[in-house]
Amino acid sequence: MSDEDVTRLLKEAYSDEIETVMNYLSNAVVLDGVRAEEIKNSLEADVQEELDHARMLAERLKQLDEQPPGSMEFEARQESLQPPEDTTDVPSVIEGVLEAEDDAIETYKQLAKAAEENDDLVTEDIAVTLLTDEEAHRTEFRGFRKEYVQD
Ligand SMILES: [Fe+2]
Ligand SMILES: [Fe+2]
Repeated sequence: MSDEDVTRLLKEAYSDEIETVMNYLSNAVVLDGVRAEEIKNSLEADVQEELDHARMLAERLKQLDEQPPGSMEFEARQESLQPPEDTTDVPSVIEGVLEAEDDAIETYKQLAKAAEENDDLVTEDIAVTLLTDEEAHRTEFRGFRKEYVQD
């Protein structure tokens, strides 16, 4: 993989983080029900974390003499994370979050690998840091899924 792969993956990851912020923010607001409260609080906290991820990726792109994409370059991909019509349908949001976190984990693994091959240790470090956060998010939502499946 070349240094172009590194910048392509950085831009892709940046866009995914921005889309995640949009969808977590929306879902954190729209869900209804007593049992949804925990999920909403968790999504709300993650909005800030994912925004911080986007900022770290944007700053790294700048350091590499590149730019994070603006909205006209944006391509939506998180179909499964759209706020549900039935606002009590918490399980569908949990599944959407798990899919988004799996995607992010895959992207950061690829980014870490591409960065390592190009001897870009700073990008590699960022990729591993964000990978650690996304794995923690996934573990948390796997726990929520377990609870919902039991009922
Ligand atoms: Fe993230
Ligand atoms: Fe995440």
